[in-house]
Amino acid sequence: MSLVLKNLGMFIFSIINTIFFSCFAYIAFLLVLVALPLLAVLFSVKRHYKNRKDKSRSLQVAFFHPYCNAGGGGERVLWYAIEAIADKYPYAKISVYTGDIDASPKKISQKVHQQFDIKLPENLNFVYLHKRSWIEASKYPYFTLLGQSIGSMILACEALKNHVPDICVDTMGYAFTYPIFSFMGGCKVISYTHYPTITSDMINKVISRSSSYNNQNFIARNPFFTFVKLIYYRIFALLYRFVGKFADIIMVNSSWTENHIHSLWRRQMITYKVYPPCDTDALQRIPLHRTITGKIKIVSVAQFRPEKNHPLQMKTMYHLRQLVSEQMWENLELVVIGSTRNQEDENWVQDMKDLAKHLSIENNVTFKVNISYNDLKKELEEGE
Ligand SMILES: *[C@@H]1O[C@H](CO)[C@@H](O)[C@H](O)[C@H]1NC(C)=O
Repeated sequence: MSLVLKNLGMFIFSIINTIFFSCFAYIAFLLVLVALPLLAVLFSVKRHYKNRKDKSRSLQVAFFHPYCNAGGGGERVLWYAIEAIADKYPYAKISVYTGDIDASPKKISQKVHQQFDIKLPENLNFVYLHKRSWIEASKYPYFTLLGQSIGSMILACEALKNHVPDICVDTMGYAFTYPIFSFMGGCKVISYTHYPTITSDMINKVISRSSSYNNQNFIARNPFFTFVKLIYYRIFALLYRFVGKFADIIMVNSSWTENHIHSLWRRQMITYKVYPPCDTDALQRIPLHRTITGKIKIVSVAQFRPEKNHPLQMKTMYHLRQLVSEQMWENLELVVIGSTRNQEDENWVQDMKDLAKHLSIENNVTFKVNISYNDLKKELEEGE
């Protein structure tokens, strides 16, 4: 009897063994079947890019900045960097990858001159990218970060198809493009990060289940969605860490960003803190004593985008109203100045106007969208 049982046991064991190993072999076979052609394609594209590289001796530097015409602080960094490189390495050929297909090089240069008082080099080369919609947040209602990141890889491929530089500088923080530029394009990759794509703050917001611009209400309320989102964020953070390995030099705009980048990428030896340029000359000339008009003007300057938390400013005004006298309130004005990059930002402005109405502070809040640097200075002069 026991012999029968033993034999049966052995039999079952050997069946399981066979199933297990055949499954294993099958999966391995599939992997090889998929991986080999994929690798072959990757390497042939890599060789293709290599052949396209300009063989002339001059140094080719390209800046990856798909929204170069947005006119914000990030763009100031871009234009100053270009000016500095053109100054120090006059023989370098500089290009900008941009998705602003409706703006001609001349128009962009004029705007930069008017807005930042920077004269761009005559021979600056603009490489236009047509696939910018791949990195727009509105394309990805769910898994936005991952969608935009993979989109940025596609955009980087388009960039390399048009022009293969020696050095590629990412000034917008699209870290997922680094493997593309580094491995496929054979470029040295320089990164300038204003804001890490994923931060421990964002993860903590999900853990504490508070709703914010990166955590919608329905997710914060539901424990299951919160769990899924947490796993997603953790995997994303791992991927972000991986792509960071492809950067050759890393620059960050502040100690806050530096701390996050240190803990995410752990590449202290090649990370440098470079504060963004700020044109204070003209601002310092603003006279400090103003004519007294009795009016109190508060000036807010920030791009119109969710991270800048304009609703908090509206709520602050709303609370201020409860604190001051009626007469004072009548003389109080909040001027909200900022630029918009696209339709989404325009909608954000409209939302803020609606919010001001909703809080019945609309008579004391003025929006000034995409005004020139001179007008900005004038507003600041009048600010309290
Ligand atoms: C760095 O960039 C972020 C994102 O644009 C911004 O919020 C922050 O104020 C910047 N820090 C400095 C020191 O400019």
